[in-house]
Amino acid sequence: MNHIEIVNLHKSFGEKKVLRGVNLTVKRGETFVVIGGSGTGKSVLMKHIVGLIKPDKGDIFVDGESIVKMSKKELLKKMRKFAYVFQGAALFDSLNIRENIAFGLRRFFDYSEDEISNIVRESLESVGLFDVEQKMPSELSGGMKKRVGLARAIALKPEIILYDEPTTGLDPVMSDAISRLINQISEKYRVTSIVITHDMKSAFTIADRIGMLYQGEIIETGTVEEIKNTSNLILKQFIEGSSEGPIQFI
Ligand SMILES: Nc1ncnc2c1ncn2[C@@H]1O[C@H](COP(=O)(O)OP(=O)(O)OP(=O)(O)O)[C@@H](O)[C@H]1O
Ligand SMILES: [Mg+2]
Repeated sequence: MNHIEIVNLHKSFGEKKVLRGVNLTVKRGETFVVIGGSGTGKSVLMKHIVGLIKPDKGDIFVDGESIVKMSKKELLKKMRKFAYVFQGAALFDSLNIRENIAFGLRRFFDYSEDEISNIVRESLESVGLFDVEQKMPSELSGGMKKRVGLARAIALKPEIILYDEPTTGLDPVMSDAISRLINQISEKYRVTSIVITHDMKSAFTIADRIGMLYQGEIIETGTVEEIKNTSNLILKQFIEGSSEGPIQFI
């Protein structure tokens, strides 16, 4: 069954047409990776899925219900099913790690302080971090911050996790560790995941299916094998990371 369905999504900012008819379905439990160049609208697409941006045209269904047509109250309730790992770690610099993770828990749920402490500890352990609750974000490395971002998502016990460029800015080893963590989270919590990346190694490690966003549309989707063997020249150029080919820089 489709968990998320995006139908003919359009969004412009002023004259700039960013999304020009995006169609995409994500099945329950699947990890779907969206690839695409810088500035092609990947983050804009992601923000539509969590209701932060309304489309000019088109619709988004979660569990068969349109989140575009929902009231604010209904949307807020639906959003409890989602966790969003922002581009960059996006931690609150003035809050320690415990409070960074507790923030979403306090916002959406009614846990006691003891329950919050347990959830914070368990979530951090799931991403391989121990005894960092009292540290400030500035005391952690980039890779550790990304892990805290993942822990913050897991803590919400979501059905759907959206990751916006989870490996960008990390060295190749740390990047692979984060990719493996995403796989572990997917299996352990049986979540549906949408991951935005332009790190092809990561995409091939984590994806059940991959879709490429180009000039405002998903131009092709397929399994890792299908994408690796694509005859689409735009996709081929992107995977190979070559500056020579049909991809236009705008
Ligand atoms: N709130 C906004 N107002 C105006 N323009 C916006 C807004 N948000 C995004 N854009 C524009 O939409 C385009 C797509 O931006 P987006 O952040 O989705 O790109 P991206 O694919 O995520 O790129 P990157 O890989 O660099 O993160 C950009 O040209 C950006 O300037
Ligand atoms: Mg982005």
